[in-house]
Amino acid sequence: MNEPGRRKFLGVLGVGVGLVATGFASVPFVQSLAPSENPWVSGRLLAIDLSDIPMGEMRIFEWNRTPVMVINRLKEWTDSVADLEAEMFPEDHPRQQRPQWLIVDGTCTHLGCLSSWTVGREDDVMSAEHPFWCNCHGAAYGFAGEVLRGPAQDPLRVPLHYFVDNTTVVVGTDDPAAVPQVPPVTMTGRTQKLPANGY
Ligand code: FES
Repeated sequence: MNEPGRRKFLGVLGVGVGLVATGFASVPFVQSLAPSENPWVSGRLLAIDLSDIPMGEMRIFEWNRTPVMVINRLKEWTDSVADLEAEMFPEDHPRQQRPQWLIVDGTCTHLGCLSSWTVGREDDVMSAEHPFWCNCHGAAYGFAGEVLRGPAQDPLRVPLHYFVDNTTVVVGTDDPAAVPQVPPVTMTGRTQKLPANGY
């Protein structure tokens, strides 16, 4: 190799080595920009403290833009829909195993408005017959999330979830084995804000 060619070769080699070194050096920096591996912090999973929800009441949680409604059902409510839920869910489904807890996506299945939990309201909305009601076009759902009145055609959706114990439920998966062993960030819900004068 003549002298000009040798200098050109060494120049290219130097640039290549420099790029590789820069690449290795930047790995920790790039890793630091990666999304959090903690699913509780990233919001992929949601852990809910059930001890905060009295019997007969509903709490709502925002999870991945989904309004998760958690209802601590009275026995008379669960009894009234037991046969229906036996048809809706397999025996190993959380709804069958812990019927006290109704966990649904509160998004109306008609066109996506937020449905309201009507139990305990003091206006003329029929809470006893229609525990869930959608103001947009009047759809109503029952104590299993089933459609009582259209125009909705489908029941309220059920997000994946599993019960860790008697006081904690995880939303976002139904597979405990898929949950990394990191401490959950347990959420306390809020009650749905209702207009003072009804709809
Ligand atoms: S969006 Fe709820 S009834 Fe239409």
